[in-house]
Amino acid sequence: MRVLGIETSCDDTSCSVYDTDQGIRSVVLSSQEVFHQKYGGIVPEIASRKHLEVLPWVAEHALLEAQTQWDELDLIAVTHGPGLVGSLLVGVDYAKTLSMGLGRPIVAVNHLEGHLLSPMMDHSDIAFPFLGIIVSGGHTEYILVKAIGRYEKVAETVDDACGEALDKFGKLLGIPYPAGPLIEKKAQEGSKNAYAFPLPKVKKSTFALSFSGLKTSAMLLLKSLGSDQTSLEVAHLCASYQHALFHQLLVVAKRVLHQYPVKAVTLSGGVAANQTLRDLFQSSLPVPCFFPGRKWCTDNAGMIAFTGYHQYRLRGADTLTFPVVSRLSISSIHNSKNSEVGI
Ligand code: KG4
Ligand code: ZN
Repeated sequence: MRVLGIETSCDDTSCSVYDTDQGIRSVVLSSQEVFHQKYGGIVPEIASRKHLEVLPWVAEHALLEAQTQWDELDLIAVTHGPGLVGSLLVGVDYAKTLSMGLGRPIVAVNHLEGHLLSPMMDHSDIAFPFLGIIVSGGHTEYILVKAIGRYEKVAETVDDACGEALDKFGKLLGIPYPAGPLIEKKAQEGSKNAYAFPLPKVKKSTFALSFSGLKTSAMLLLKSLGSDQTSLEVAHLCASYQHALFHQLLVVAKRVLHQYPVKAVTLSGGVAANQTLRDLFQSSLPVPCFFPGRKWCTDNAGMIAFTGYHQYRLRGADTLTFPVVSRLSISSIHNSKNSEVGI
């Protein structure tokens, strides 16, 4: 079966052709980073307009690279939430038009499930149940994956997402959006012990995370240090701040593992591209840790095609009336029929 995946939930326009026998045959991504950089974050109106401009070209290119004709596609999979409404609408309308025009089934994909299953694209042997941790620019969620399609959210942030905390810190230091990769690079020259950031305590639950207090601590620290830090000081700041975020991710992971006996842990989403985070998890947890290949960490249509295929297998096609849902939870996915324990 050949699946066309379409992803436009935020600021990346991406299409991918996934063949269920051969794996991913192509993934094409058009980034809008340069258009948003000067605003220090994503401007929704610009995002949807850019998707509209490039999506047909991105799709054509994905088919070309996959050496696939339109009529060789068997399924259209598209992200329908969560994300920016205008951006989602561009992808979903395009996908519905293709589905109608080609006479092929369509399946609506939850972007978070795409991130959650992305480690399986390269590791088909991850044992269930596992703890899937999504750390991206919009989400920080800990999800028990009992099988594909059977999920239970067990922990999440009460305020900012981990990637958002990195991007906001980057803004304070004048590092362009998205700041995560540059903070990672800078941190390699500094010491994680140079500055002490507190481990946030969330009263509501020992499983809850919080990042906004760390951002405020960083802001106060920067104020006290003055405006002209040396390159080494910036490196120390990046290393210490990044470590404070990752340490919190690890502390909560250990708490969850203490309560839920899982066989493995996965990290996915943009922040999971970070090697320091990968090393920390790999060296500190009692169960095997898996990560997606780096190109599957940040938003991409490969994970949407892959997830779309599995959802289609479990629940069949969707009708053309499905909506875009800007605030869509992973808990909205219920595949009660599913009793599998592996792919
Ligand atoms: O998954 P993603 O592309 O978009 C969302 O669905 O949010 O994640 C983007 C986030 C940004 O906050 C970016 O700063 C962060 O992932 N990120 C990283 C790295 N690469 C991207 N954070 C830390 N280290 C990285 N190497
Ligand atoms: Zn994402």
